[in-house]
Amino acid sequence: MTQSVIVQVGQCGNQIGCRFWDLALREHAHFNKKGCYDDTTGTFFHNPNGDSCGDNGRIQQLKARAVLLDMEEGVISEILKGPLGEIFDSTQLLTGVSGAGNNWAVGHMTYGSSSRDKIVDQLRKAAEQCHCLQCFFLIHSMGGGTGSGLGTKVLRLLEDEFPEVCRIVIPVYPSVDDDVIVSPYNSMLATRELTENADCVLLVENQALVEMLKMEYACHGGQHTKSNKVSAMDRLTGPEKPFDAMNDIVANMLLNLTSSARFEGSLNMDLNEIAMNLVPFPRLHYLVPSLSPVSTLPRVSNSTRKLDKLFSDVFSKRYQLIKTDPKRSLYLGCALMLRGNVHMSDLHRNIERLKPTVPFVSWNPDGWKTSLCSVPPVGHSQSLLALANTTAIKSTFMEMRERFCKLYRKKAHLHHYLQVEGMEESLFSEAVTSLDSLIEEYHDLDASVGKLMPAAARLKIAK
Ligand code: GTP
Ligand code: MG
Repeated sequence: MTQSVIVQVGQCGNQIGCRFWDLALREHAHFNKKGCYDDTTGTFFHNPNGDSCGDNGRIQQLKARAVLLDMEEGVISEILKGPLGEIFDSTQLLTGVSGAGNNWAVGHMTYGSSSRDKIVDQLRKAAEQCHCLQCFFLIHSMGGGTGSGLGTKVLRLLEDEFPEVCRIVIPVYPSVDDDVIVSPYNSMLATRELTENADCVLLVENQALVEMLKMEYACHGGQHTKSNKVSAMDRLTGPEKPFDAMNDIVANMLLNLTSSARFEGSLNMDLNEIAMNLVPFPRLHYLVPSLSPVSTLPRVSNSTRKLDKLFSDVFSKRYQLIKTDPKRSLYLGCALMLRGNVHMSDLHRNIERLKPTVPFVSWNPDGWKTSLCSVPPVGHSQSLLALANTTAIKSTFMEMRERFCKLYRKKAHLHHYLQVEGMEESLFSEAVTSLDSLIEEYHDLDASVGKLMPAAARLKIAK
């Protein structure tokens, strides 16, 4: 059995991480009938009291395989005071006193340098508690200074210190109307780091999450507000923490992604296999996740969605955690990760049904990768996560470039970055160049329809 560690950075990273821990604990408590620590629970939890099934081995006593980092104290101290506080201990946390003030350079350069050794120490401790460490998951925002700056610094540290361990990043891109004005700078600078140092990036965007919730509300709101106190829209706008419902979607994506590693299944997908099968070229490692049903919250529980509908859903824009137009794009690979009591024949039948609408690159016309975990999410009989490596993501990057250029043309807010020690203006233009060549690589693939090998690949071979 292998283990994975989650590194959660900044407010967004920590809040999403904690939704994952909460829901993962609930799943293990629900499906692990003995309620004991076992190999499968051990993927993401360790038992400081030994592995036995006595009182010391109860699921309630477990510690999360996590590292929590933030440049301010507030979010992490809230977590420690809450019901999840007991699954972390002080050796797993690192906080600063003042945040990065929404500035990538402060997170990356200032805090990244001054706390480097402490962070590496924390990562090593988490790694030492694993018999066979397979994967680091890194969760952070792309708009905040700590998330984008320190988050991508941590990514570099992971590459330096644990080059053989797979790095899967879940970055949360800001909405167009995000209240962090400099978020286009932070996103641009951080994207370059993701392109260079991640093995796999599962893209998430706040606007897409909000729209998914609105869709949930439209489908289930009426029926559920009668029986439940809190509706989807209440959770979005009301007294609860505004991000909770959005974070549940990302946490559910992670639950689905890791279900094969956390439970037995008839067709398991190793986490390493995701990058191996879906990433044909090292920089083109951006995956679009789509999930159906959207949520496993009690308010939408027991909705029995027909299995074939799940497959259609995940190829629709409305179920994507980042909005791209899947039409008129090419697929480099696509993983379908199913949970529930489903037969292989259902999986194959649906792939055959969808094939005509999912065009793959000509040199990999059957780039499907599938997994089947018989344990469903709590409250549903089945769920499906698709991870698509598609050229459609090109347009999202082009929009991001546009937003960046609007500020950068005027050099607006630039001085805040340039006054940080170690920050050079050339990093901005290098980040744009990196994004441009990424867009170009996707463009080459689109242009290569019908050819035997994409131009990007031919160029690489020629070099
Ligand atoms: P600084 O506070 O600037 O040091 O960095 P930080 O990483 O703590 O900032 P934060 O994570 O708050 O980043 C701001 C961006 O993240 C904005 O785009 C917010 O909309 C988004 N954000 C903050 N918290 C959450 C959250 O819990 N969930 C989601 N989905 N987005 C969040
Ligand atoms: Mg913060």
